[in-house]
Amino acid sequence: AAQAFVRPLTFQSVTGRRAYIDDDLWGEEAHVLHVGLAQDASLFLIAPVTANTMAKLAHGQADNLLTLTALGAACPLALAPAMDVGMYEHAATQANVDTLTGRGVTVIGPVEGRMASGKVGLGRFVEPHELFGWVRKLLGAEGTLKGKSIVVTAGGTQEPLDPVRVLANRSSGKQGFALAQAAVDRGARVTLITGPTSLATPVGVSRVDINTATEMLEQTLQACVKADGLLMAAAVADFHPKKTQSQKIKRQEGVPQVVLEPTADILAAVMKAKQKHDFPKRIIGFAAESSDLIENTRKKLEQKGVDLIVANDISAEDAGFSVDSNRVTILSAAGEVTALELMPKTEVAEQVLDRLEALFESG
Ligand code: CTP
Repeated sequence: AAQAFVRPLTFQSVTGRRAYIDDDLWGEEAHVLHVGLAQDASLFLIAPVTANTMAKLAHGQADNLLTLTALGAACPLALAPAMDVGMYEHAATQANVDTLTGRGVTVIGPVEGRMASGKVGLGRFVEPHELFGWVRKLLGAEGTLKGKSIVVTAGGTQEPLDPVRVLANRSSGKQGFALAQAAVDRGARVTLITGPTSLATPVGVSRVDINTATEMLEQTLQACVKADGLLMAAAVADFHPKKTQSQKIKRQEGVPQVVLEPTADILAAVMKAKQKHDFPKRIIGFAAESSDLIENTRKKLEQKGVDLIVANDISAEDAGFSVDSNRVTILSAAGEVTALELMPKTEVAEQVLDRLEALFESG
């Protein structure tokens, strides 16, 4: 019935891969097709899946190419339902969902929203980015960071002056979010502690939203208990207003004098906790520098006592804050200096995680 919506040729044209239909089950490849199609698969995803197909899968029925192939597949199965709210909420469908999830099948969504019928409710297909996020999580489950717990901090903090105004910085959170996604892709359990940002939470990440440096300190210390690694990518405010006005500062009162005081150094607090509890095992700091990158970072590395520092020159237009690319230099406690070329932040994240893995391996 799906062919009434989208022809197989459309799928073939956009993917460059053959699209199979029920007629193929009785064609030349017939006897092996239902086994062969999923033989080398790492994941079997049916998206969208109907109430009817879910019912068949729940009961092991195999009367078409899709359900036959699913029954023969040895890889994990994921389903993204899409149907009218009444169908999804029906006790029969819900019992099928329970049967399937009880068997280890991942059911992705559905989400609430407007249906084709005009009704509003639970039954809409998840958004594509959410679906991709699930695919990444499921494919990464057996990855090289399986069993590891990683804490990532991201974004900038906001320090309130009054109920309306804050002292903030230009950090977008993109590098931290890319690190969190990359860690999920490798099978890690990830806690992402982030300042205000509109970025979507990578699927599989447990996200903690904070505003101030003080809140980030508390949440980071809490998350680091028993964590294997900390990636401190956040741009934490170094100073906050000594006094936050409880009422809005009024223009008529004249130009306010704002007195700042230092915030807590989160990395220093984590290092102190590490001496006591031996957690987190490995710590990677980040540095934003606008001059003398190597020299300043080397000093920071010594002062902070972390395993690595990923330094970026924020004076470059194509790297650093807000943009999607970064040009970083990685300095290690062992004295190594690696200057990486300009690359997407997603690629920087992979490079950083390669080094984190090497640190884990070295003990
Ligand atoms: N950092 C922190 N707590 C702070 C400020 C920064 O833990 N209060 C962390 C950052 O998340 C980063 C590292 O320290 O991993 C270096 O941050 P950076 O701003 O480059 O350096 P600072 O220590 O703040 O020094 P400066 O601003 O003088 O360069």
